[in-house]
Amino acid sequence: MLLQLQNIVKGYGEPNTHSYRPVLNGLNLEVSEGDKISIVGPSGSGKTTLLNLMGAMDTPGEGKVLFKGKDITSYSKQELAGFRNQHLGFIFQMHHLLPQLTLFENVLLPLLPQGKSISREQKEWAEYLIEKVGITGQRNQKPSQLSGGECQRTAVVRALVNKPELLLADEPTGALDEENANALTDLLLTLSAEEGVTLITVTHATALADCMDKKFQLKNGKLVDSLKG
Ligand SMILES: Nc1ncnc2c1ncn2[C@@H]1O[C@H](COP(=O)(O)OP(=O)(O)OP(=O)(O)O)[C@@H](O)[C@H]1O
Ligand SMILES: [Mg+2]
Repeated sequence: MLLQLQNIVKGYGEPNTHSYRPVLNGLNLEVSEGDKISIVGPSGSGKTTLLNLMGAMDTPGEGKVLFKGKDITSYSKQELAGFRNQHLGFIFQMHHLLPQLTLFENVLLPLLPQGKSISREQKEWAEYLIEKVGITGQRNQKPSQLSGGECQRTAVVRALVNKPELLLADEPTGALDEENANALTDLLLTLSAEEGVTLITVTHATALADCMDKKFQLKNGKLVDSLKG
């Protein structure tokens, strides 16, 4: 089992006060290597909150997050940063590109903490991904000189440049037209098939969701099989 969420309870604010906002409520999920999972739910239902927990960006109030059987909620901050860099790719709803760097520099950033210089193979892999999502012509531009969809595609490449085992994507096609959304969907499916990347994506795009093999709906703080409603 790659990832297990066990009885996750998560809310915001001080528990047992009127300011507390419960979001996830006894949520369970089991993810096997190579799974392709989509999650839908209304705005505010907790999808980003859930991805943040899966990606060790936040900790649950109660419950456990196990990655390959290890409880990552007990990791120190430093251990978590290393764990994320080594195993995870994260496509954020807000793309979080660094404004002072070019597209290409932004994409190479996750390769730097590994302590070695970036190899030619790694650069070629980045260039392959950039070409696949159709932003080669923009590689020397900074985020302020890119369109919203180009920023999103840059963020996708950045999330994939380390060949993560688990890719967590928050509406990865949200800012894209149909043609570019299809190209990105194809890329994700190719990586899943050829590199064995496990995909968990929050999306309302039916074309993307339909390519996933498990579909869940976030409802009342729990995941329900979206076919059963
Ligand atoms: N840091 C925070 N502090 C307080 N409340 C928060 C915080 N982050 C999220 N919330 C609240 O938690 C709920 C779930 O938020 P979340 O971002 O997970 O929703 P979502 O399903 O991703 O929505 P959307 O589809 O709009 O992106 C919302 O009601 C939101 O206002
Ligand atoms: Mg969200």
